[in-house]
Amino acid sequence: MMIEKNKEKIVSLGLRSAIRKGVQLLVILAVVSACARNSRAQTQTASIDFDATTRVFRMDAAKVSYVLGLNEAGELQTLYWGKRLPKSDRFSAAKQTGASAFEMPVSTTPQEFVGWGGGLFVEPDLKITFPDGNRDLVLKYASHSLDGNRLFIVMKDIQLEVYVTLEYELDAETGILRRSATIENRTKESFTIEQVASGTWNLPRGTDYRLRYLTGRWAAEFNVQQQLVRPGKTVLESRRGTTGAQNNPWFAIDRAGENDPEHGDVWFGALGWSGSWQITVEQDQLQQVRVTGGMNAFDFSYVLKSGERFQTPYFYGGYSEEGIGGASRLMHSLEVDSILPHHPKPKLRPVLYNSWEATAFDVDEAGQLALADKAANLGIERFVMDDGWFGERKNDHAGLGDWWVNRQKFPHGLKPLIDKLHSLNMDFGLWVEPEMVNPDSELYRKHPDWVLNFPGRPRTEGRNQLVLNLARPDVRAYVFGFLDKLLNENDIAFLKWDYNRNWSEPGWPAVPPAEEKNVYVDFTRNFYSILAELRQKHPQVEIESCSGGGSRVDLGVMQYTDEVWPSDNTDAFDRLSIQNGFTYAYTPGAMMAWVTDSPTWVNQRSLSLEYRFLSSMQGSLGIGANLNKWTPEDFAKAKQMIAEYKQIRETVQRGALYRLISPEQNSEQSVTETVSRDGRQAVTFAFLHSSHEFYPFPRVFLRGLQPDAVYSIKAFAGRLAEDTPAQASGAYWMQRGIDVDLRGDFQDAAFTLARQ
Ligand code: GLA
Repeated sequence: MMIEKNKEKIVSLGLRSAIRKGVQLLVILAVVSACARNSRAQTQTASIDFDATTRVFRMDAAKVSYVLGLNEAGELQTLYWGKRLPKSDRFSAAKQTGASAFEMPVSTTPQEFVGWGGGLFVEPDLKITFPDGNRDLVLKYASHSLDGNRLFIVMKDIQLEVYVTLEYELDAETGILRRSATIENRTKESFTIEQVASGTWNLPRGTDYRLRYLTGRWAAEFNVQQQLVRPGKTVLESRRGTTGAQNNPWFAIDRAGENDPEHGDVWFGALGWSGSWQITVEQDQLQQVRVTGGMNAFDFSYVLKSGERFQTPYFYGGYSEEGIGGASRLMHSLEVDSILPHHPKPKLRPVLYNSWEATAFDVDEAGQLALADKAANLGIERFVMDDGWFGERKNDHAGLGDWWVNRQKFPHGLKPLIDKLHSLNMDFGLWVEPEMVNPDSELYRKHPDWVLNFPGRPRTEGRNQLVLNLARPDVRAYVFGFLDKLLNENDIAFLKWDYNRNWSEPGWPAVPPAEEKNVYVDFTRNFYSILAELRQKHPQVEIESCSGGGSRVDLGVMQYTDEVWPSDNTDAFDRLSIQNGFTYAYTPGAMMAWVTDSPTWVNQRSLSLEYRFLSSMQGSLGIGANLNKWTPEDFAKAKQMIAEYKQIRETVQRGALYRLISPEQNSEQSVTETVSRDGRQAVTFAFLHSSHEFYPFPRVFLRGLQPDAVYSIKAFAGRLAEDTPAQASGAYWMQRGIDVDLRGDFQDAAFTLARQ
């Protein structure tokens, strides 16, 4: 769409003619006003220059420079990506990198986007099979254009009418680049895309890199992994049809041996795609590191008809000189200011209640009303009814697909419950799992052909359910239709949109066999388009992306959902690690975290209510406990903690996060600090797993304060050492630090600093 709009603007600047016309320098200056964003942001400039003499493109934004050049073969080559350089520094023209007769330059030259052809042995960005059997694709520069802080570079095959428009958009505040590629078939026949990426990030040549990435599974998402980047390739991927938890589409690369999380060069990126994806990190034959990301090539193909265009997902890439901490803060800023719905001012997350862990599928009017009364007393702002309210849903064996209110459980529909919630000053949220169907449902009995399947082959069930083929227009219409009706007929403020299994047998028998694999793309596109259309028709509705926990968290879905659910594991100690990993890539402002009962179902571990609250208060707070079992003391404590949370909510959800002590590698402690955007408040959470041999809790050295400003300190949980002054300078809190009086097992403390 976007490309189409800009197509007319793409001025063909055939290289020689550009030089003839004496085009010396094209400069676009995008000044982004600080007021338009937020008070933390300073006025930042983003600029894109093209030097027609050297044929070098240079992009500068925030603290980053990114430089590309057209080499003598017309390839687009990365020349620099890193710390912002003075404008006076000029880059010489790009030159192909050659090695030997066995390594053709197409393989050894660090290209931004390369087709598979002409002797390429590294990961291609695009591989096509043409109807005559040709599989050779050699892309060369054709033209470029500039539009504000966006650069479009058009590449074309040396013979065929295959065009690829590379789009670069610079984020002025963070220096993060957003890339995508649009493939256009201007030949007379269809061709088949067999592999396609959004682009390749090339790092400065080096052998001392360390890769960080996120792995996991149900109930154990967002584990942070580290490994050296060695010759060869590491593939991060999902083959599951959706994002998955096995890997999350994010990476960060820094220099091995850098131990300070707030110091050193870090190159990082994330893919905005909720279907099967892959990111390859490759150290090539000349010790160059390339990161290529896009559609997963396994079992992939996409038939692009004559005249059609295919736009890849966005691949975001950034650089920080402030270590991995700085890299994650840049990601958080980008998400809040440029990606989440209602950016640059997404709404703060309300404190919600959800009865899933308390009632499971046993929801009914009386039970939910009773819980609602109790929740309202605590200061809860949103009441969410989870699974079990529809069709013949008594357990996970039946009902998915039948999205009408179960009249035995709710004889008068949802209205009495919603009215009661409104009278208690809470709004209403509802659980749905739109892309799924149980074979035991009216929908499946009526439309058995609507699911992903290969005719005559078994249909493997996961959680007793099958996946509806959302790529089909009739399925898309059904899913949009029932959601639209639900939202029209009920005053619903929030949908928890769940997705509880991965794909199997991903056949689409209704289309010609050659086009069946288009499902990998069309499914996800329809998912996004339903979300977009619902949001447009029902702008007041907020949405959470949940997938049996955190299996659908990525920058693609976050364009359409206000929050995400990181894990079904609500054990507050396990959550410290899950949340720690989550925040490498994603903002705590979108991270739901519930306080649930103790001992938890996960580990049978007992934790104090205060500990459970503090763990959840590092994100977007929710309560998922069985309030029917709470004592008056529990209610009093919860009321106090929720009131405290409302005082720090904006800081936690929007501020700058510092991992003072990370819970990784079985650390006995975990400490986070967040400084508000206006710098007036900082909040610190400290957790002790278990103390040993009389050692005191490590001293906590704060970060991100103004050294000369005076801050007063207040603990709202746990105890600070007796000699802690009531107030001191930012320099004191950062250099002298704070002693927290923590001993024992599973202990906690939390305090705020307020700038005077
Ligand atoms: C998934 C979600 C849970 C809950 C159940 C309901 O597992 O992650 O939070 O909604 O489904 O069936």
